[in-house]
Amino acid sequence: MAFEQKIKELLDKRGEARLGGGQKGIDKQHEQGKLTARERIALLLDEGSFEEFDMFVTHRCTNFDMQKKSYLGDGVVTGYGTINGRMVYVFAQDFTVLGGSLSETMALKICKVMDQAMKVGAPVIGLNDSGGARIQEGINALAGYAEIFERNILASGVVPQISAIFGPCAGGSVYSPALTDFIFMSKENSYMFLTGPKVVKTVTGEDVTVDKLGGAMVHASKSGVAHFVGETEESTIQTIRELVGYIPSNNFEEAPMVATADPIDRLEDHLNTIIPENPNEAYDVKDVILSIVDDGQFLEVHENWAKNLVVGFAHMGGMSVGIVANQPKAMAGVLDCNSSRKGARFVRFCDAFNIPLVTLVDVPGFLPGTGQEYNGVINHGAKFLYAYGEATVPKVTVTLRKSYGGAHIVMSCKQLRSDINYAWPTAQIAVMGASGATEVLHGRALKEISDPEEKAKFIAEKEKEYNDLFANPYNAAKYGYIDDVIEPRNTRFRVIRALQALQTKKDSLPMKKHCNLPL
Ligand code: HXC
Repeated sequence: MAFEQKIKELLDKRGEARLGGGQKGIDKQHEQGKLTARERIALLLDEGSFEEFDMFVTHRCTNFDMQKKSYLGDGVVTGYGTINGRMVYVFAQDFTVLGGSLSETMALKICKVMDQAMKVGAPVIGLNDSGGARIQEGINALAGYAEIFERNILASGVVPQISAIFGPCAGGSVYSPALTDFIFMSKENSYMFLTGPKVVKTVTGEDVTVDKLGGAMVHASKSGVAHFVGETEESTIQTIRELVGYIPSNNFEEAPMVATADPIDRLEDHLNTIIPENPNEAYDVKDVILSIVDDGQFLEVHENWAKNLVVGFAHMGGMSVGIVANQPKAMAGVLDCNSSRKGARFVRFCDAFNIPLVTLVDVPGFLPGTGQEYNGVINHGAKFLYAYGEATVPKVTVTLRKSYGGAHIVMSCKQLRSDINYAWPTAQIAVMGASGATEVLHGRALKEISDPEEKAKFIAEKEKEYNDLFANPYNAAKYGYIDDVIEPRNTRFRVIRALQALQTKKDSLPMKKHCNLPL
């Protein structure tokens, strides 16, 4: 074959591979308001940075005449590229090829990028759009998934793993994302379920739509499976790019410092009066977060789930930080099963990837009652406690108002190896609030008072006595549990100075095979 012909053959093959399952499939994808695998990669990576692997791979299955349904690239586009100049490895499933279903060879392609990402220490981003294991391949497809899962597990805590769900993802194509650090979904056309509505109907008799079973908002607000939800595929992909900016490429790196013109000593006078006079009145802790971080930029994780705890990424003085804050605006900021799971997962991610933790505390305690106990609040709360106690990254805690009981301990108290603990003058650090404490401590005396007026007077006196002792930060500061009481408007400066001081922190855990946290 002449040289020109060889080049033409190459270009023709490339052209064929770029069409995936064919133009009809691409048109169908667009009609449904979905992008193709290649369009998604183009949006994700810096322009012109994508280097593709394995364009010419085809599947090896001959069951059910499958040799007649063979496509170059076999249902997944893989390779590497950059996001704002930083290397990432990527795979994007191509729904136009047999519904993006996973074959043995497709699994090999995905494993290849995962292996390379591990060798060079770069994040792996998977864009999923797949009906799960390719049914015609049987056990080979299952083996392929198992190979991917094993790599997800080995890569966990070594390189960041990010998954996006675009399309109806079922079976293995949701298990692999579940093993990764963050799951993104887009509001339209994005579904996750282990088994689809037809199987649900057969097994349980339940009639359910795909939206109700596994739509983006279901997983973003009810199950907590999805960490981020975007309006469109485009905006979802932009948020993935944003997230990458906050995290290091692997567990040996620090997150990149970013330049900021935001002065570290910026005073925020309104913080001096943000805490309401009435201790039962709420305020929005996100106002505090936005006031203290660089340029008011905060990337919230799990924005729609367990809203009584706010977690997310920001920069402070150019350093990446993970922020964890009780939210008085939602359920008074109480800790419960879901917020504990949310907090634990976030703290462990930050610790695995060297991102310092800034904790803002205003917590009245754990939510009591059978609803919580039956759902295992003891275990879930213990997870959060474990995560903070285990974390060796720099930990800076600021108590804004309430910090009561077990929840005080969980929220990065001094004895859980928190490095620097500040409190606002409005802080109250105690075993419980004044009214509960009075009930317990003076129950017998209260029973003996029959006159309601006299009873109210007695309660007010006892509550005052309790508040005088505990409704302030100075009792805890007296013991050194609080390192300093700071002016709220100066919080940004004090936290950044603390983070700067802790930049060279070294701390470790005893040698062990792995921990056994209460899962
Ligand atoms: C082979 C598949 C497939 C699969 C879809 N296709 N899923 N081929 N194996 N798993 C093919 C379809 O036959 C069709 O081919 C094309 O992809 C598009 O699929 P449609 O059904 O036309 O698309 P849509 O109506 O959008 O429905 C998408 C879907 C549905 C909801 C994903 O296809 C579906 O329910 N698929 C099966 C989902 C499932 O139960 N997967 C679990 C697999 S088990 P043609 O040729 O007609 O275009 C699994 C085990 C791993 O994953 C477990 C690990 C723990």
